[in-house]
Amino acid sequence: MTATVTTDRLTVTTDRLTRVPGLLYGGDWNPEQWPEQVWAEDVKLMAEAGVNLVTVGVFSWARLQPDADSWDFGWLDRLFDLCHRHGVAVDLATATASPPAWLVRAHPELLPVTADGVRLEFGSRQHYCPSSPAYREAAVRLTRALAERYRHHPALALWHIHNEYGDHVQECFCPDSAVDFRRWLRERHGGIEELNRSWGTAFWSQRYTSFEQIEPPRTAPGPVNPTQLLDWRRFCSDALLALHRAEKAVLDEVSPGVPVTTNFMSMLKALDYWEWSRHEDLVSDDAYPDPADPRAHVNAAMNYDLMRSLKGGRPWLLMEQAPSAVSWRPVNVPKRPGLYRLWSLQALARGADGVLHFQWRASVAGAEKFHSAMLPHRGTAARGWQETVRLGAELRRLGEIAGSRLRGRAAVLLDWDSWWALELDDHPSARMRWPELLRPWYAALHERGVTVDFVPPTAGLDGYPLVLAPNLYLLDTATADRLTAYVRDGGRLVCGPFSGIADRHDHIHPGGHPGPLRELLGIVVDEHWPIPDGATTAVRLDGAAPDGPRSDGAEAHAEPHGADLRAERWSEWIETEGAETLARYASGTLAGLPAVTRNRLGAGTAWYLSCHLGADTGRVLDLPLAEAGVGAELPDLPADVEATRRHAADGRQYLFLLNHGGVERRVPLDTPGTDLLTGAATGDAVTLAPLGAAVLRLPAAEERP
Ligand code: GLA
Repeated sequence: MTATVTTDRLTVTTDRLTRVPGLLYGGDWNPEQWPEQVWAEDVKLMAEAGVNLVTVGVFSWARLQPDADSWDFGWLDRLFDLCHRHGVAVDLATATASPPAWLVRAHPELLPVTADGVRLEFGSRQHYCPSSPAYREAAVRLTRALAERYRHHPALALWHIHNEYGDHVQECFCPDSAVDFRRWLRERHGGIEELNRSWGTAFWSQRYTSFEQIEPPRTAPGPVNPTQLLDWRRFCSDALLALHRAEKAVLDEVSPGVPVTTNFMSMLKALDYWEWSRHEDLVSDDAYPDPADPRAHVNAAMNYDLMRSLKGGRPWLLMEQAPSAVSWRPVNVPKRPGLYRLWSLQALARGADGVLHFQWRASVAGAEKFHSAMLPHRGTAARGWQETVRLGAELRRLGEIAGSRLRGRAAVLLDWDSWWALELDDHPSARMRWPELLRPWYAALHERGVTVDFVPPTAGLDGYPLVLAPNLYLLDTATADRLTAYVRDGGRLVCGPFSGIADRHDHIHPGGHPGPLRELLGIVVDEHWPIPDGATTAVRLDGAAPDGPRSDGAEAHAEPHGADLRAERWSEWIETEGAETLARYASGTLAGLPAVTRNRLGAGTAWYLSCHLGADTGRVLDLPLAEAGVGAELPDLPADVEATRRHAADGRQYLFLLNHGGVERRVPLDTPGTDLLTGAATGDAVTLAPLGAAVLRLPAAEERP
């Protein structure tokens, strides 16, 4: 919610998520699981913990609407009033993620069907077909009933549509879906001949003469038409979005002025969040890094950077995290003391304006009874409760950071269309998976303390000195032209392998890979050369390897002495067409051929990595980072310390320093500030305990000594 606040002295534009001041703190509260006497204790304890926002109603449909013609709002009315009396704002869910049994039995066709034709049963949650008219009608009706009843309630601060779209059910292959898919295809392609061309149906006699002949890509004897599958991915994201938009339209109509969100699931393949976030008033995310993974915070940082980027840097909300263990991994390791606090601060460090949880009070029944909660089964004597109270107190001390923003120093291109197309079957290697290609690039940037923004392929790139594209398998010529113009005008682009391959129909760009990037990168790919599982190919950075390829296949993937880097998963036989070679393959059949290149074009530069360098990616990225002058938020950042900087409208900065390691670290500072967590003024350095953190308020430049 961007609001302009005018006092008698000045006008300040704030960028608040909701009308609740400061940072948001709370969680999913499922009061229908408890007798009402317990609610009184809940709100008392919420006050003790500093909770100011609770999400209610997420799974309340059966309670709110016991049958088709009756409603039971009395309990929710009492809950709203109770919250209001205790100063707790409500994020009201539309309760549509789990249709009740009576609706399912009246409309069994709304249950989702798998690609193998199995209809999934009632008894869990998210048991609905995204294209079911019966489900949609009932969901919209419930949303309207809730909106009409609570729109003016003073406790209402936020609407929470549905819950985690695409969590359990991302696609449905039932007859209703088939009808909707055909409608979607007609809109996209216009006529059946256009569809035939787009899908390349001349192949394997797949030609259609009418849309009625088309079905969802159910399990078939062999490989299914890839463009059909790609359109299916697009359709499935759109079908869920259409549901979301139907509820959003009701809320916008009935309850204008109250912001609306739905909880995203970090970097989720199934949903094109660039498109989705256009329909959110604010972005919120559910994040469950694994405490058993010592590098989990790197992945979390990546997801948080995406969430911040989805609305161009606006603050976002961590809608759910676990206070300690989850209950859905094979082994659910709790968060060791200090980790919950550190990871909560990490979300703020990357632009969140609130930290909410699943869930407030631990359930005693149901599939999630072993999931941690802000108020654990043991009650207020539990270690977890002490952490809940401590974090609430700290967030109050950090309240002034709300509304401040981060900006990445470089941009990473992310395109869901390309992700979907990259991971289709029957490619040179099934190991080219977007998250696995992206992660080492992101990890290298994180290790170097470089904050990045994610950008869609349609983004203007002008403000960024460096743009990274770990993979652009699917690339239309318009995007390639934009990238070329960006480089010609002085930009720097680093492009990963297997890029510029296909157009938006997933047809190969003619004339050699990387198609529309060929001139920009100054190279041509002769042949893709995937690396077998477990093998690596040596790459030598100085370009000093002998010329020419080897014919000696027997030595493939053996690493010769002196090689610098290791490629895994993927390599390419490339030839330069104007680019200079910065690194060559140093083992295997490709030994001597270029592996990493740099091409000067106009006023800018384009690098190409023809292989996947895994953990060694950073050693190549150091070159463009240095040329672009893109560095860490703080120089001399010790290992394991994450540093980010949020900027306030008044010029103040908030420097977050987070020690993810198990060893005490001393962080030198260029500007003294005040640690908001302790209130202490800093000198020329801050010492961070293992899992320790500091949030420094730094004065605006003109106020600095
Ligand atoms: C998701 C869901 C919640 C709950 C948690 C458990 O985030 O939205 O309802 O199931 O997972 O981790």
